[in-house]
Amino acid sequence: MVEAIVLVGGRGTRLRPLTVTTPKPMLPVAGVPFVVHQLARLRDAGVGHVVLATSYRAEVFEGFLGDGSRLGLELDYVTEEVPLGTGGAMRNVTHLLRGGPDAPVVVMNGDVLSGHDVGAQLGLHAAAGADVTLYLTRVDDARAFGCVPTDAAGRVTAFLEKMPEPVSDQINAGCYVFRRAVLDAIPAGRVVSVERETFPGLLADGAVVLGHVDPAYWLDLGTPAALVVGSRDLVLGRVRSSAVPGPPGERLVLPGAQVAHDATVGGGSTVGDGAVVEAGAVVEGSVLQQDVVVRRGALVRDCVVGQGAEVGEGCVLSGVAVGDGARIGAGCELPPGARVWVDAVLGPHAVRMSSDQS
Ligand code: GTP
Repeated sequence: MVEAIVLVGGRGTRLRPLTVTTPKPMLPVAGVPFVVHQLARLRDAGVGHVVLATSYRAEVFEGFLGDGSRLGLELDYVTEEVPLGTGGAMRNVTHLLRGGPDAPVVVMNGDVLSGHDVGAQLGLHAAAGADVTLYLTRVDDARAFGCVPTDAAGRVTAFLEKMPEPVSDQINAGCYVFRRAVLDAIPAGRVVSVERETFPGLLADGAVVLGHVDPAYWLDLGTPAALVVGSRDLVLGRVRSSAVPGPPGERLVLPGAQVAHDATVGGGSTVGDGAVVEAGAVVEGSVLQQDVVVRRGALVRDCVVGQGAEVGEGCVLSGVAVGDGARIGAGCELPPGARVWVDAVLGPHAVRMSSDQS
């Protein structure tokens, strides 16, 4: 049985206020917490046992996922009292792995949405007898990422931090296959970054570090805008996940949601359980979490609206992240990038876009 570790301990600061109450991997994306898509993907690739490396709001994971049997997986949880970084988190869970020193262990960052072929990555790793095989993706502008160039044989030649003039368009896409003994060799009990410490150290020691370049869909769900795009692409079927609770289409309306017959919901929007979209409202390319209310005639485009929040009558919201329980009064207009804090109350017409922003 192949094993995996999923790193889900980050604070998700770029996703505030959505992550104030819910850790990033547990935010709903196309109808289920994001980590459920990753777990389904691992299961579909033949993984049977997964250890979740938690830290921030650790209790939320086990409360929802339990022992994993509903997903056809065996799940274990380890909680870091103090976050140990990506490498430290991996080392901190190795005592729960069951395979021998040469067994492959898949490690996934808890915020990567991809359509890449995990089975092919495992196959390459096994065939080459590699120490680590990294999933790499190509991007148009690598300046914001660490570059990972490879040679003609696919061996990684360097790990280069963000640079103004990147030497390669290949970046670390956040899913690795490790030989188990490599994880065991990471120093225990302290903060370790795999990207900055473990991988460069392996190269310096002459370890076999391979790149598996896969051109499939890839997205880092680190910001509200990316979360909206990822959810939309899953609903529309641009990237497939067996965990989406419905067929691909213009919208995903969960059982228990109510959408007025003359409201318009489309563009890959999700309407969560218990949510209400009233008459004449338009919801486009957005994520409405559980129990959200969108009042009559409001327009919600490219937004994430947190649990139990209310968007008042005639509001216009575009590219906005609304925290859980917030109340946005009638007639407010909020521009792209606005973030409404958890439980905030904006009075009717309290915020209007100036004409040059509209
Ligand atoms: P930002 O604060 O918005 O950068 O998000 P983040 O905290 O999730 O950090 P980042 O996106 O760099 O993390 C990449 C992945 O590693 C995410 O899935 C995190 O949950 C996970 N991660 C980062 N640091 C730790 C850690 O110290 N412990 C554990 N267990 N996971 C971590």
